[in-house]
Amino acid sequence: MHERFFYDADGELLLVPQLGGLRIATELGIIEAGPQEIVVIPRGLRFRVELLEREARGYICENFGAPLRLPDLGPIGSNGLANPRDFLTPVAAYEDREGDYELIAKFAGRLWSAPITHSPLDVVAWHGNHAPYKYDLRRFNTIGSVSYDHPDPSIFLVLQSPSDTPGVDAIDFVIFPPRWQVAENTFRPPWFHRNVASEFMGLITGVYDAKADGFAPGGASLHNCMSGHGPDAATYEKALRADTSRPVYIPATMAFMFETRAVIRPTRLALEAPQLQKGYARAWRELPKNFSPDWVAPAPARRAARGKRGRRAGGAGRRA
Ligand SMILES: [Fe+2]
Repeated sequence: MHERFFYDADGELLLVPQLGGLRIATELGIIEAGPQEIVVIPRGLRFRVELLEREARGYICENFGAPLRLPDLGPIGSNGLANPRDFLTPVAAYEDREGDYELIAKFAGRLWSAPITHSPLDVVAWHGNHAPYKYDLRRFNTIGSVSYDHPDPSIFLVLQSPSDTPGVDAIDFVIFPPRWQVAENTFRPPWFHRNVASEFMGLITGVYDAKADGFAPGGASLHNCMSGHGPDAATYEKALRADTSRPVYIPATMAFMFETRAVIRPTRLALEAPQLQKGYARAWRELPKNFSPDWVAPAPARRAARGKRGRRAGGAGRRA
């Protein structure tokens, strides 16, 4: 793509590389990024992408709402989640080149091409805040339950595009990094739910803790607005048998979610792709019915187990 340049007049772009590194030359400078990093390109900014390795693969989210920003931390306080210090913006870099180039624009939902006789990356200096940036997802300060219950995934929020409705964003970008799970007497995986947000999930590396099989790195899942979903049957069974008196470390993983208040319509290409899992819903078919009106919570047994363990080992388990 050395002779082709691109800009998106419709929205801001959030790039999530999954395989291979990218060198992104923009009007405002150069960004290099690879898997477990993200890049945000502002609306209208012209850029060129070069592959640093033979092949590359990843995800792109086109944000038509307000520019992505860090969330207000509320009761968390002054620091946590993605910290501002870790967001990197390039210094100015320009090229003074003339030739037969192509400028491609995404405008009003379509792609347009025009010849251009010079490189548009000719900005010698700049100031302002409508600038591209990158962020290393491994820098995320992960927060989780240290008592009981599985909190809402908004605790994993990296960036948000707020809307005119509080609590309902145009886009939430959420990640599921390596972390400890310590909540006691609790079903630790995400619970079964449906909600306003349409949830597009991707996996950059490792295994997602709510779906141990069939969700490969580079793949994606989509649960649209008000579609019920939750862990697959195997994950559910494992979580039921888990000893929640002991911490568990979820190592070497990085899943993410684009959550939006819009409905996500898959393209024909996606629906006809050979990789499409037509029997996706079967993951839940084997879930047993466990309800019994006579069931009683085993709270006394839990307290006894905790006392015994405290005498023996003095507390937490070791990192796996
Ligand atoms: Fe969900």
